[in-house]
Amino acid sequence: MSITNFWSGVPQGPPDPIIGVTDAFKKDTSPNKVNLGVGAYRDENGKPYVLESVLKAEDIIHQKKLDKEYLPITGDPDFLRLSAELAYGKDSKPLQEGRIAVAQSISGTGGLRIATGFLAQFYPGVKDIWIPNPTWGNHIPIAETVGLKVQRYRYFDKKTIGLDFQGMKEDIANAKEGSIILLHACAHNPTGIDPTQDNWRELSETIKSKKHLVLFDMAYQGFASGDVTRDAFALRYFVEQGHQILLCQSFAKNLGLYGERAGTFSMVVSSTEEKERVLSQIKRVIRPLWSSPPIHGAQLVKTILSDQALLEQWLGEVKKMADRIIAMRERLYNLLVELKTPGEWGHIKSQIGMFSFTGLAPEQVDELWEYAHVYLTRDGRISMAGLNEGNIQYFAESLSKVVKGELKPKSSL
Ligand code: LMR
Repeated sequence: MSITNFWSGVPQGPPDPIIGVTDAFKKDTSPNKVNLGVGAYRDENGKPYVLESVLKAEDIIHQKKLDKEYLPITGDPDFLRLSAELAYGKDSKPLQEGRIAVAQSISGTGGLRIATGFLAQFYPGVKDIWIPNPTWGNHIPIAETVGLKVQRYRYFDKKTIGLDFQGMKEDIANAKEGSIILLHACAHNPTGIDPTQDNWRELSETIKSKKHLVLFDMAYQGFASGDVTRDAFALRYFVEQGHQILLCQSFAKNLGLYGERAGTFSMVVSSTEEKERVLSQIKRVIRPLWSSPPIHGAQLVKTILSDQALLEQWLGEVKKMADRIIAMRERLYNLLVELKTPGEWGHIKSQIGMFSFTGLAPEQVDELWEYAHVYLTRDGRISMAGLNEGNIQYFAESLSKVVKGELKPKSSL
């Protein structure tokens, strides 16, 4: 008797638009290869960087010889308190009044999954979630998985390579009353373009008048400006204005805890009693997903945030990472100008955070992969953190060539 094959009908899935870039990069054997795909910080030698404050926290944790018991479903209480203080500010009114429900998440993705899962169940009658165009690729499948309907608001203006603020505001104003509006709190991924503080103020008014519900995704606190308080402006302003926001907070980038999967999901609610009810349902979203969260990343975060010396060291390191990226922006801009690259490249300097949106077409990206061994996502996004003194000249030359149409070898024309 032949053995039954159950899976012959499973089709090949497409590569992930971001993680697939790393896979392709790893397979490339060229000594010149450059990976500007995934948003993961690299030091000045192009190496993954473990923060000194994190290494010290690891030593402290190691010496404590902690057990490996399960955490509560919503996570480590000290981690939750300290994370919320970092995001909302210690003086946040709803925080002081005990009106913020917080749960530990599997980094930003897990936070978004809790948020959308909760909304799909407890925000009755509303299915539309408005997401910027473009946005982080994972937002869409996360929302669709739970049955939310993704709508797009205008964000990026191709002509100015800047923010289409009027378009954004109009689309949000025209969305059905009470819609869910997803906002990147800072360092918008993939464009590196954020609303100004005045823009945020206007958006707050528009959103309030339409009774929309805001979901903030904050994956880059500290990475945009080097200052964690400044980067929390939009979130804190909306909270001050009385919006009952939802927040997904990730420690992947600002603490370099990518694979540790540390983050939180939180909601501003109207009373401590409501907080308890909401938390009881958040638990029911989490339990069938991952039951209870991982320990180690949360231990690292709470060790750093609760120790003044470590906290200061970490803040210095965030600034150092942000400053290195800003320096690379300046260098890249100057090189592109020196190389007489057609077009206006000022946006490389004005964009903020980990990414730059180059404006390259997908075919130009394909040429960079194939002929220069330079890997970036097909939307033309580059991770500035992947650039360093060792590869920036080569990258600028490759970019300049592809824009001039000179990268493809003549024989293949
Ligand atoms: C990115 O956008 O590159 C990062 O947020 C990593 C990821 O998981 O996509």
